[in-house]
Amino acid sequence: MTDIKKGLAGVVADETAISKVNPETNSLLYRGYPVQELAATQPFEAVAHLLWHGELPTDDELAALRATERAHRTLTPEVIAAIDLVPLDAHPMDEVRTALSLIGAIDLAGRGSVLEASGSVEDNLERSIRLFAALPAIVAYGQRRRHGDEPIAPRDDLDYAANFLWMTFGVEADPVVVDAFNRSMVLYAEHSFNASTFTARVVASALSDLYSAVVAAVGALKGPLHGGANEAVLHIFEEIGDASNVVPWLDDALASKRKIMGFGHRVYKRGDSRVPTMKAALDTLVAHYDRPDVAELYDTLESEFVSRKGIYPNLDYPSGPAYSLIGFDILTFTPLFVAARVTGWTAHIMEQLGSNALIRPLSEYVGPDERHIEGYVPDPAVAEALTRAEEAAG
Ligand SMILES: CC(C)(COP(=O)(O)OP(=O)(O)OC[C@H]1O[C@@H](n2cnc3c(N)ncnc32)[C@H](O)[C@@H]1OP(=O)(O)O)[C@@H](O)C(=O)NCCC(=O)NCCS
Repeated sequence: MTDIKKGLAGVVADETAISKVNPETNSLLYRGYPVQELAATQPFEAVAHLLWHGELPTDDELAALRATERAHRTLTPEVIAAIDLVPLDAHPMDEVRTALSLIGAIDLAGRGSVLEASGSVEDNLERSIRLFAALPAIVAYGQRRRHGDEPIAPRDDLDYAANFLWMTFGVEADPVVVDAFNRSMVLYAEHSFNASTFTARVVASALSDLYSAVVAAVGALKGPLHGGANEAVLHIFEEIGDASNVVPWLDDALASKRKIMGFGHRVYKRGDSRVPTMKAALDTLVAHYDRPDVAELYDTLESEFVSRKGIYPNLDYPSGPAYSLIGFDILTFTPLFVAARVTGWTAHIMEQLGSNALIRPLSEYVGPDERHIEGYVPDPAVAEALTRAEEAAG
């Protein structure tokens, strides 16, 4: 009997130099740096550079990246029109997927056959920055149009995080809010061979183009067992209402065998290394917006659930309420995750192409035994070729 690793759990599929998840020490390193140090000290643009190039940028490199990022912030009328074609009641991840797909189609138009689709290292860096720069505009416009508002033009005097908030809300965010938001982007940027990153690597391994790989990754991230969990956390908070209702709500939820979104992780079994940093960012937002009720509900549900099940929060647990306090709609949470994780996805696509092997696992067949179509008479040439092939196979 073949040893099947359902869900590829425990399978080491390749090497990576991009990030290291260590469940034993509860740590996450991007290119060797602990993620909490990066979140506390680096703008998101610098972390993107780190993931793509392996080193933090020099001042000149950061300035160059910021200049290119600023140059690609504005969506073309075609992309705005494509977003407008997505029904307002579709999930915004469908909107993001559509917009990214069109950006790719426009960029690749007239660029030769599929044989060159995977592109050079330079092509893929340029494509990565293009998507990184366009995503804030896509996500911000998505939320705005659901409120019946027009898109807001980017501000050249603002860095990535501050400009993202500006394009969403049309007001200059307080530095405390910009800092918390920047930290969340850094924490969401990369997490080794998670489902969406692995999806991107599978597509890249077929030597398809970077845009196709990213669009496929968006599809994987939409699932509630992956990126969709942060919005589910806020729905749970809304259901519970306030801290005094946690115990009866949890009694009911556990009795009906519900999964409590925002808790548990495939790799971390004793706590997610990103949670303390994001929880600290949430605490600054709670103080800034004077919303102690949010912290009370958060703490009560966490301590009740952990003491009953021994399952710890993952990053989606603190990021959901943090995004909500900043003013993002629940439906915008997973697109925010895309804006951050596109850096990790694209770094992995480039790494995959750097030493590519087509990703193509085997499966154990459990269907019907061989059977035949009644009355079928094989073409003699086909029958002969099959016999020859069988003989050659021994
Ligand atoms: C993330 C997740 C899919 C990891 O799953 P996994 O490693 O495959 O672990 P399993 O789903 O097999 O869970 C093992 C046990 O813990 C329970 N469990 C795990 N997470 C749970 C949760 N959030 N709520 C309730 N029970 C949970 C499972 O029901 C299972 O119990 P059982 O052995 O009695 O059947 C899972 O924890 C989950 O669904 N969490 C909620 C969604 C979420 O927050 N996703 C974001 C991940 S970053």
